[in-house]
Amino acid sequence: MNRIEGRDKVTGRARYAYEYPADGVAYAYAVQSGVARGRIASVDALGVLAMPGVLAVLSCAEPPALSADASPELALFQTRDVAYRGQIVAGIVAETLEAARAAERELRISYEAEPHDVRLRPDHPGLYAPDKVNPNFPTDTEKGDVNAGLAAAAVSIDATYATPTQHNNPMEPHAAMAVWDAGGALTVYDSTQGASADRDMIAAALGLAPERVRVVSPHVGGGFGSKGTTRPHAILAALAARAAGRPVKVALTRQQMFDVTGYRTPTIQRLRLGADPEGRLTALVHDVIEQSSTLVEFAEQTATPSRVMYAAPALRTTHRLVRLDVPTPSWMRAPGECPGMFALESAMDELAIAAGLDPVELRVRNEPDTEPESGLPFSSRNLVGCLREGARRFGWDHRDPRPGLRQEGRWLIGTGMAASTYPARRRPSQATAATADGGFVVRIAAADIGTGARTALTRIAAQALDTSADRVRVELGDSALPTASLAGGSMGTSSWGSAVVKACEAMLKDGHSGRADTTEDVKGDTGFARHAFGAQFAEVWVDPATGEVRVPRLLGVFAVGRVIDETLARSQLIGGMTMGLGMALMEETEMDEEAGGFLNRDLAQYHVAACADVQDIDAMWIDEEDGHLNPMGAKGIGEIGIVGTAAAVANAVYHATGRRIRDLPITPAKILD
Ligand code: MOS
Repeated sequence: MNRIEGRDKVTGRARYAYEYPADGVAYAYAVQSGVARGRIASVDALGVLAMPGVLAVLSCAEPPALSADASPELALFQTRDVAYRGQIVAGIVAETLEAARAAERELRISYEAEPHDVRLRPDHPGLYAPDKVNPNFPTDTEKGDVNAGLAAAAVSIDATYATPTQHNNPMEPHAAMAVWDAGGALTVYDSTQGASADRDMIAAALGLAPERVRVVSPHVGGGFGSKGTTRPHAILAALAARAAGRPVKVALTRQQMFDVTGYRTPTIQRLRLGADPEGRLTALVHDVIEQSSTLVEFAEQTATPSRVMYAAPALRTTHRLVRLDVPTPSWMRAPGECPGMFALESAMDELAIAAGLDPVELRVRNEPDTEPESGLPFSSRNLVGCLREGARRFGWDHRDPRPGLRQEGRWLIGTGMAASTYPARRRPSQATAATADGGFVVRIAAADIGTGARTALTRIAAQALDTSADRVRVELGDSALPTASLAGGSMGTSSWGSAVVKACEAMLKDGHSGRADTTEDVKGDTGFARHAFGAQFAEVWVDPATGEVRVPRLLGVFAVGRVIDETLARSQLIGGMTMGLGMALMEETEMDEEAGGFLNRDLAQYHVAACADVQDIDAMWIDEEDGHLNPMGAKGIGEIGIVGTAAAVANAVYHATGRRIRDLPITPAKILD
């Protein structure tokens, strides 16, 4: 199906958070810390308050009331302590955005700065083992005797890989309008990946009962994880609206988004692989180093894919974290799997070369019978099917593995591949279905963040009701609708679809209306390892004189359960692969070690892959039936597309040039070095 709201979007009728009208609306602008660590000595707002149009200044000088339970990320203006450069330390409310920004330049904040530390390094004395890694995995795991496995290996790899800080850059910036009614209830028009969770987090921060808060977000211009948790702009809007006694809008600038909406932690990953002469793994060790802020412990689950992928009799994974004077990392498309699989799949390529084996064949030989870490049976796997089908379609069979041999004009040409994986989970959700206007209406507080969720749920409901999609209207993006889980973790379709199918079935029984809650169903999701898998293939052309890398061909073949809508699925998968291409070649945020904070904070200096970088890119899927997942038999597709792409490109760069680049992104400078 084409997207139901597609016409509204391209004609500008679809309304985003910042675009809602309100009488007497005012504007707030976030003022950011100029130091990376220290204390605010004073805030002098008197001059600013005298400026034309300025309504209020919010800061720690007079802390606005917030709940003591507010997350430190959202507890605006409650403390004089500064945790990172770019932290929001004041807010200016004015009649116009221009007046607020003009006042920001005049606001005098003085700091008692302290020395800061913003650099992740493998010998950092502050490294420690967190109690768990996200969302609730053990920090370290060990099975079998890895030392014996490594010692017995005929072939082995010991290599360290690094991925940089990366930032989500949704097209729609983080923006909100907050409106308090006379009775003290709050409505927030927000750009969020989940209206229900956003409502709960805003209510908790403000110390309100959740019923007193409503979040409205029918259209969201991308999130990728950065809108999966409430960000401070929404709290600033609520506090500013309370202070001004008027509705208030806040939009973060692109630069501010880099500082306060989260980022993917940089990682340093050591991979040790041992294999017997036939390439069968004898040991796999994956040790990860990453960072968090001093405010909140965020421990990315980077080594978890190594617990899932290959049949190693001895397997060890570890995560170590250091708390630096930096913004708190957060979710970015396929957190954990995406950086972790760059390292594991690069190492597997190195092992294939060391063992004299084809890299596709190496992976097939290490296919496990059950999930290696847990021993659980897979609900379905089909990685081998993806590898074989991808190899066939890509034309892998006649590949000469020797590097640096193929040349066309000034270009060195190479091909590479990597595997993909991402968990297939679901979360409890509620939905209702009812007859309406000769058709049906389905209600659920799901989020369509540009994925096509509204359209997918319409198809799911139509099938459950045995009717055509044009007779079904899906209402989503509003916390007043039945509570639903986030658009995150590739769990949206699976979680919401389960509730929608159940509500539709209840309605068919009742005749007029049905209501569903999948909390109990989700509790039954045990006993199987549930993951999606895939195989990615890349062709690269490298100019050895300039170091330029082009990627004329990218192919992904995925095993993602039943595909609900082919158009939407292909968009999600090639979108993920395009983001993976950016990860491979471009995306990197640099810390300013002198001053703290990020150096490159806009789209001129933080490069993402755009249409001109993408040439022949395609994604397909193999037929997969998996009755263990949910009523639709669907796995998530939002994230797996980015997993493995960067390794496939890096492996192809090695094949083209003979140069192994283990730290992303693969820039011209690194090729030429
Ligand atoms: Mo996605 S990083 O799970 O929002």
